[in-house]
Amino acid sequence: MPGSAAANGEPQLVEARLVASVARAQLTPSGYASTEVWAYNGQLPGPTLRLRQGERLRVRVQNMLTEGTTVHWHGVRVPNAMDGVPVITQPPIEPGGGFTYEFTAPDAGTFFYHPHQRSYEQVGRGLAGALIIEEREPPRVDRDVLWVLGDWRLDRDASIRGGFGSFMDVSHNGRVGNTVTINGRVPDEFPVRAGERIRLRLVNAAAARVFALQFRGHRPWVIALDGQPVEPHEPDRGVVELGPAMRADLILDMTAGPGSRHAVRDSFYSRLEYELVHLTYSDELPLRARPDEPVRLPANRLPEPVLENSERHAVVFTGGMMGNMRALRRGMAWAVNGVSSACGEGASAFDPLFVLRRGRSCVLNLVNDTAWHHPIHLHGHSFRVLTRNGAPTRHREWLDTVMLVPHERAEIAFVADNLGDWMFHCHVLEHQAGGMMACIRVI
Ligand code: C2O
Ligand code: CU
Repeated sequence: MPGSAAANGEPQLVEARLVASVARAQLTPSGYASTEVWAYNGQLPGPTLRLRQGERLRVRVQNMLTEGTTVHWHGVRVPNAMDGVPVITQPPIEPGGGFTYEFTAPDAGTFFYHPHQRSYEQVGRGLAGALIIEEREPPRVDRDVLWVLGDWRLDRDASIRGGFGSFMDVSHNGRVGNTVTINGRVPDEFPVRAGERIRLRLVNAAAARVFALQFRGHRPWVIALDGQPVEPHEPDRGVVELGPAMRADLILDMTAGPGSRHAVRDSFYSRLEYELVHLTYSDELPLRARPDEPVRLPANRLPEPVLENSERHAVVFTGGMMGNMRALRRGMAWAVNGVSSACGEGASAFDPLFVLRRGRSCVLNLVNDTAWHHPIHLHGHSFRVLTRNGAPTRHREWLDTVMLVPHERAEIAFVADNLGDWMFHCHVLEHQAGGMMACIRVI
């Protein structure tokens, strides 16, 4: 493990500190008002934590908010006690209190961290940051660029509008905002140079917004999804679609001419298309004449599920407006296999959806029996997506968050190799709060 072990053979330790507090940030272009947000270390997004695969991360978290919080390391296969789920894996960090998270990073890739307590509001007010775990031998690119995508519902004075967790948002699309940011700022230009090769790490840190990005005049290649390498491919119709919590690593070759300017468009919501940012070329001569060979990332060492004799379960997601209204009467808009659960606010451990023996291969048949999009996230594991609506997927990609479009079915497979109670929920955070959450126990 070059570069990841200290002299004594122990993994190298990387230490960081995150302080969650109220802060002010300039989301909108300068000249407009600043916004009161909740932030880690006063920064939006929170500081990017970087370490090498196989290294150990120790993060001291301090809570300066007036309510409890936790930090969840989304997509990282951490031991259960480090997973940051209130009540289930740890008591919430009380105001004024602290907690130290420590784990070894098993997989290289693009991950992120966020609170798991009342996350629809805590994330919605700004608490999220990227966690980048570098390959032991990173691929050669000219620039490694991170875009943390954020979405805010602002009033005219740039303050964050209240009404978090409103029934309207919970029972529909979630709290989709009106202001999109890249790395905490409404972007305009992204300066590039002709011929350069960029590794673009996209993180959708929004509570509810789905992105469908088109890089006009460019042909991005997807090399990793949710941190896990995938057979390099151009996305369908050239559109990179990212639901909440999903990540994609792209190779973006700057193949256009010096001095040119190209829009990155987001066209997910019909009739609400907009230009997110422009790739703005300098006048410099191209860095190279033709793009280099495609980049292929080394696979992480994930346990491969064995499909014969695997354990099989169906998981049916229901609810929402236009859905079965039974749960609505109890104030919960969504359900998983007929049960609505939320966690955090005082809820004690909940009954697992099912119990898996450690080491078992498991195939879940996910059924979206609703008229809405749901990015479904499993903690503690990555899973392969085997089929969608019965048809094999082209790349059998490893994900930790799989988007189910309305009425879609998907089969996912994984080895239940991580002990503990793992949350399994929709990452539209208002849907999660509205009952679209379950737990899978590995014993
Ligand atoms: Cu990104 Cu259960 O969360
Ligand atoms: Cu959902």
